[in-house]
Amino acid sequence: MGVRRFPEGFVWGTATSSYQIEGGRDERGDCIWDTFCRLPGKVAEGHTGDVANDHYHRYREDIALMADLGMRAYRFSICWPRVLPSGSGRPSAVGLDFYDRLVDALLAANIDPYVTLYHWDLPTALQSLGGWAARDTAQRFADYAGVVAERLGDRVKHWITHNEPWVVAFLGNHLGVHAPGWEDLSLALQVAHHVLYSHGLAVPAIRAASPGSEVGITLNFSPAYPASDGPEDVAAARRHDGQANRWFMDPLYRGEYPEDMWDLYGYQVPRVADGDLEVIRRPIDFLGVNYYTRAVIRHRPGAYLDYETVRPAGEYTAMDWEVYPQALTDLLVRLHEDYAPGSLYITENGCAYEDTLTPDGQVHDPARTEYYRLHLNACLDAIEQGVPLDGYFSWSLMDNFEWAFGYTRRFGLVYVDFATQARTPKDSARYYASVARTSTIED
Ligand code: FCB
Repeated sequence: MGVRRFPEGFVWGTATSSYQIEGGRDERGDCIWDTFCRLPGKVAEGHTGDVANDHYHRYREDIALMADLGMRAYRFSICWPRVLPSGSGRPSAVGLDFYDRLVDALLAANIDPYVTLYHWDLPTALQSLGGWAARDTAQRFADYAGVVAERLGDRVKHWITHNEPWVVAFLGNHLGVHAPGWEDLSLALQVAHHVLYSHGLAVPAIRAASPGSEVGITLNFSPAYPASDGPEDVAAARRHDGQANRWFMDPLYRGEYPEDMWDLYGYQVPRVADGDLEVIRRPIDFLGVNYYTRAVIRHRPGAYLDYETVRPAGEYTAMDWEVYPQALTDLLVRLHEDYAPGSLYITENGCAYEDTLTPDGQVHDPARTEYYRLHLNACLDAIEQGVPLDGYFSWSLMDNFEWAFGYTRRFGLVYVDFATQARTPKDSARYYASVARTSTIED
């Protein structure tokens, strides 16, 4: 076994999001997940984020955990209705004070905050006005981004406008498995456009209030591999790439929607006003990459976009996601070659397994350790091919509310007993901490 070294200055961190960990329900306005969790059958076991990890009250303990693991960076998100309970208008002093204390406590522990402005908890007040389907929400988002950057921008130097616009648009509005739960393709495409447009509007608002900071966006990627070499499967994989990846990367980095997909969507394409694409493609400082698994695609006439995903033999996580680290290398190389974002971060990567606290008071999770070992090596493979990858954030610091799966899927480096809120670092946390501390890894 050889020891491999990450570049000087490589950033090591963990990631979370507001609705998934905060709780503190009484101290904020309503968001669309509060509503969605109460729709019968939408979230496993009727779970909600009302309490979650009670991080709102336990953030000091959670920062101490990060410090113990030697983390130097932390990606978290701001809950929009905690800052602006009705989505716009007068900010809540209680809400802004919370994030102010959080940022100060992180900096005191020598942990650099990477702040995501939207990780899916849209104020219910804005959903009532149409949510992301309403063009006006984009301006509300830019205003909100400005409010947060005004307050935290002297100390926060890394901003992520959105987390995973594909998920917001399609899981929320086409497949209906995330809030707000609609099933309408043209609505989803309009939402995607407004989310991208809001990103572009927010970029200058953040820069104005937080001089010298870096601004980026995080996308989820689904690298597509054809199930065979046949031309039909190859074309089908290209369509999957189009809907999942290029539909977002092309507007952000080229100022255009991909023509092949635009033609395929036909009458369902979004309304795009003059100048929108110029706003969307405003230069940014980095691209956040969330990667979990690949997609193997087979042509199937009659299915949505005439393809289906197949399930090859291999290793799978508790999400039934294939463990396939080569796709992470391929993805990073491809993004660098096709779009040259200049700087990339892995803003999420990780896995769920069925962890149990054993009688020795520990959580032995060798499969997760192996997942990290493989994917961190995959990152190094990309770096060695010239990809400017500047950091890695594991998803997640701790087990939390996994959206439609409630608390039934555990992604954490730290195990959480949701009855007692006790936190127990898993074996994989010690592994990840040792990689981060030395910035080296055994292959
Ligand atoms: C991503 C989300 C994150 C988490 C992981 C498992 O899509 O950004 O909140 O749920 O998946």
